[in-house]
Amino acid sequence: MDMKMELAKCLAEASGVDAKEIYGALEVPANKEMGDYAFPCFKLAKVLRKAPPMIAAEIGEKLHKPDFIEKVQIVGAYINFFMDKHFYAKMVLESVLTEKENYGKSHMGEGKTIVIDYSSPNIAKPFHVGHLRSTVIGNALYQIYKALGYTCVGVNHLGDWGTQFGKLIVAYKKWGSKEAVEEKGIQELMRIYVKFHDEAEKAPELEDEARLWFVKMQNGDEEALTLWKWFYDISIKEFERVYDMLGVKFDAYTGESFYNDKMAPVVEELKEKGLLEESEGAMIVKLDEENMPPCLIIRKDGGTLYATRDITAALYRKKTYDFDKCIYLTALDQNLHFAQWFEVIHKMGYDWYKDLIHVPFGLVSLDSGKLSTRHGNVVLMEDLLHQAIAETKKIIEEKNPDLPDKEEVAKKVGIGAVIFNDLYNTRIKDVVFSWERMLNFDGETGPYVQYTHARSCSILKKAPEFTLDGLDYSKLADEASMDVCKLLEAFPEKIKDAAAKLEPYLVTRHLVAISQAFNKFYHDNPILNSEPEVRQARLAVVVAVKTVLAEGLALLGIEAPEQM
Ligand code: ARG
Repeated sequence: MDMKMELAKCLAEASGVDAKEIYGALEVPANKEMGDYAFPCFKLAKVLRKAPPMIAAEIGEKLHKPDFIEKVQIVGAYINFFMDKHFYAKMVLESVLTEKENYGKSHMGEGKTIVIDYSSPNIAKPFHVGHLRSTVIGNALYQIYKALGYTCVGVNHLGDWGTQFGKLIVAYKKWGSKEAVEEKGIQELMRIYVKFHDEAEKAPELEDEARLWFVKMQNGDEEALTLWKWFYDISIKEFERVYDMLGVKFDAYTGESFYNDKMAPVVEELKEKGLLEESEGAMIVKLDEENMPPCLIIRKDGGTLYATRDITAALYRKKTYDFDKCIYLTALDQNLHFAQWFEVIHKMGYDWYKDLIHVPFGLVSLDSGKLSTRHGNVVLMEDLLHQAIAETKKIIEEKNPDLPDKEEVAKKVGIGAVIFNDLYNTRIKDVVFSWERMLNFDGETGPYVQYTHARSCSILKKAPEFTLDGLDYSKLADEASMDVCKLLEAFPEKIKDAAAKLEPYLVTRHLVAISQAFNKFYHDNPILNSEPEVRQARLAVVVAVKTVLAEGLALLGIEAPEQM
């Protein structure tokens, strides 16, 4: 039950003002003595043309208070509502305990499809920490939207096409070897790619050679495509190892190469619609009116571009999935790229251009020197995740040396810590990697939330007799219990909010708040050693917290071990 909405409806009935308007004005007072909710009547002064205290008094007289409200108090222009604690605790805990891992989920998105374009690393280049953010945020949004009933399509728009493959082919032919690529994988591809750039500075004709190879690829040249496919397979194998560790899956691996044979009709359409112009031998769409540089569609050597493929992909996705929204997760340095080609779709006359949403995020900065940089200056995702696991294992060895499955738990906690850290702030904020901070079991971290979950599991293991039947909710009137209930009640709203704002941190932070409130509750209230009725009521809080923490972590793509 959405209590705020229920209250808004009651106030609407008593005042004649629309419930939606009232809903927006209802407050949660900072001072609990002013009630659990308060309605400031001056918000209605304009519509009702009366002095606010008078409005408060009149509404007060007409109001039929809902069952979950114990007391209504009029103070000047304010109407303060005090909840009936038993009723409230019962309502919240019963919903969580009966709906279990479906608590907070909804059907609001039924029949609607969201395409989420995330991770999308570049073939033959390492999966670096920058792609971590796209992967982690994209996966969280996927889980969050799915929980709200949307059909989600996770697309990995791999960077597997473009002139860089021409460069790679030239580099391989000149400085590479089959053995080295087979042995070292992406590292070796990276090495020869870097070498290409060094050499091309001295010998610019290498660039022309590379462009030629890419044109060959576009034209289906067998040698070029065989090499490309080989580089592709090697890269995918490495990416999949990282996805396995992160527990991330995709519905489609349709990368840029997928659109190779689909671009020509799109270019034709641009031409027909009079949008394409020649400029210094290249084909562009001008965006002068929008105050943006032109969107480059075809290079003067005939090569297509990143934007050409994005435009083609959007048309393909609209046709294939008929999406309500298509969202793109990349770092904010691609803002202009997306703004440009979204505008091209607009100019093509597709009104669904407004359903294309670029969701940018800030950079990852590394806490200097603390991360292994075995491979030169690029920090690889895989190394980073292994290091997270190793660091976590050290902590577990110290805290809980007898824990069974230490390796498994370290994996869940270490990787969970990395994900949690990434999702802790608004997307746009840069993420700082500091093992000390993100692995702190007492900080606002993944391990802290997981530890709280494990603690609730261990309490419940000692109370196998727990049942909901005959539960006396009046035993939960203390402030610590109420605080936990309030946070549990707010959880469904947080999921919706996170989806609407495309901000998983709203869930992340709420899990920290629940954990903190629960740890205070646990500290203030003996559970297992209290008298039977109190014990049973408090156990209900434990079950509810355990349920919501596990569910919330799952929404973020994090596992919840029962012991740690
Ligand atoms: N491969 C790109 C990169 O690593 C990201 C692709 C994002 N998705 C898209 N449809 N443009 O920067």
